[in-house]
Amino acid sequence: MSDFENNVRQALSNPQNQGEMTDADSVGTVGSPDCGDMLRMWLKFTEKDGKKVIDRATFQSFGCQTAIAVASMATELLKGKTAQEAAKLDAQALSGELGELPPMKIHCGELVQGALKNALEGDSNTNASTQSSDTTPTSSAASPTLIESISNQTKGNIRIVPIDND
Ligand code: FES
Repeated sequence: MSDFENNVRQALSNPQNQGEMTDADSVGTVGSPDCGDMLRMWLKFTEKDGKKVIDRATFQSFGCQTAIAVASMATELLKGKTAQEAAKLDAQALSGELGELPPMKIHCGELVQGALKNALEGDSNTNASTQSSDTTPTSSAASPTLIESISNQTKGNIRIVPIDND
């Protein structure tokens, strides 16, 4: 097993910042046209030394293990960053201590990057870059939960089966 896979496995044993944030300032959701995975990220800002910085970030994912591991890392990395600093982080930077994303996994990191950008664009005080990515925003901040946006898109024809890894 590669170092990267090992690091992903470790991150998945204790993922950080999972779950909906009810008092978030903004939320972004993306779906990958490549694999159909989806990820939503919530951001909460605070004022520090006269600057508006990210206080907390959380995520929900219907995605692969790599996307979950990157989102876990990214939501930790984002703390204390201004929106402008956060917008500059690409998929590799958001992977942090997981190490460099292998070519087959870059789109998994881009899913996280896309959700972050979507959330930053939803924050009215952010001049976030609007670079396009391979991911497609799938809903506005008004959608209450990820499962609802998925259900809406598939008109209820979806069956989610939990995977038992043991
Ligand atoms: Fe789709 Fe990783 S395989 S995000």
